[in-house]
Amino acid sequence: MVNLNENYLNDFISSEEIEKFQPRVNDINSHLNFCSEKGNDFKGWVNLPSKFFKESIKDINETAGFIKNSADIFVVIGIGGSYLGSKAAIHFLHSENYNCICKKTPKIFFVGNNISSSYTEGILEICRGKDICVNVISKSGGTTETAIAFRIFKKFMEEKYGKQEAGKRIFCTTDKSKGTLLKMAKKEGYKCFKIPSNIGGRYSVLTPVGLLPIAVSGGNIEDVLQGACQAEKDFLNADLQKNSCYRYAVIRNILYNKGKSVEIIAGYEPRLDMFFEWWKQLFAESEGKNEKGIFPSSAVFSRDLHSLGQFIQEGSKILFETVIQSDCCSEKLIVPESEENLDELNYLQGKSLNYINKKAFEATVKAHIEGGVPNIVIDIKDFGEKTLGYLLYFFEKACAMSGYLIGVDPFNQPGVENYKKKMFTLLGKPGCN
Ligand code: PA5
Repeated sequence: MVNLNENYLNDFISSEEIEKFQPRVNDINSHLNFCSEKGNDFKGWVNLPSKFFKESIKDINETAGFIKNSADIFVVIGIGGSYLGSKAAIHFLHSENYNCICKKTPKIFFVGNNISSSYTEGILEICRGKDICVNVISKSGGTTETAIAFRIFKKFMEEKYGKQEAGKRIFCTTDKSKGTLLKMAKKEGYKCFKIPSNIGGRYSVLTPVGLLPIAVSGGNIEDVLQGACQAEKDFLNADLQKNSCYRYAVIRNILYNKGKSVEIIAGYEPRLDMFFEWWKQLFAESEGKNEKGIFPSSAVFSRDLHSLGQFIQEGSKILFETVIQSDCCSEKLIVPESEENLDELNYLQGKSLNYINKKAFEATVKAHIEGGVPNIVIDIKDFGEKTLGYLLYFFEKACAMSGYLIGVDPFNQPGVENYKKKMFTLLGKPGCN
């Protein structure tokens, strides 16, 4: 489903360098695969796919069915790990234009991931006169951006439907046992989906956090979990000859030690755009601490070849690229014939856009390598659910391994608290001076 292609790394890394990491990888793997009974180590995601209950899938699908039948618009309220994964998945499965092409499923809007009044007013405006359902998602249950947006949408829903009917259209996804949102859900009688306590926000896409919105979009969540389950099995064994996920983690660490401190994840399909945003959050919050870490950035080509491309080719030699490539795209659309050939494109007539896109990839890889930029290529089979589940798990496990290799705790995010404290002080939150 997912293949790590190292053909473009030969000039930069030797297999001996990779093999030297085996003992450290073995140790970290044992640590990662051992999930303590107490469950307070934030490793609950490691064996989640194989443990996911059939009952929970049924429950999520039933709720998604209700939402599909009763809403024109589904509003997902959350920030960071509480929205990036589901948005990434929906674009990956259906296209970045999901809202324009969806016919049998509700349009999906994401709010609470910023505090912009014009953005939020815009979504409220779109919702007026339409039937809506809301899914408010917060692991901690108290994130300010999410809470503000929810307060606004709760009022909107109660004014539109009345408290009782609104209550049936509001769904909460939050920590299993604690937090303000859980308390509120209990008090108001909202249906609540639980996130296991030992799974942090950015590792939660394969819980109801991601699965409910994916199911509402028409995605088959059983298949997503099956793909993830396959990845869980494939990446259990630490052997670097076989484990491509750990190999990727090791390769990025070798490159980091050689001064490559920025990784650009890139692809030639715009539907990957949000997947890259999810990936950036995963790696930035997991690795960027103690003045260490590879800065994660992204590019969608060929668009960004006309912007970032210049820097990648000739700028500071601090970059490496990880390219997500797929051979499965449609060959239907071709460059049409033109007798006049005014645009001088006849050398391409009859060729599919996909063929030209592939040539753009081949040319770019060659050019960037020539520019001293190592390229890791990850080939994916298709844009289906199983591949999605596999790829999500691939990066989660690679990220955890990579964080430990770099020497940080990949499951906390202490730096995020600083801005929050300062914002609370400025806003006069009680107890925060
Ligand atoms: O990865 C994380 O833990 C964070 O990025 C969270 O997802 C983000 O801060 C949102 O938190 P919460 O889900 O508690 O509202």
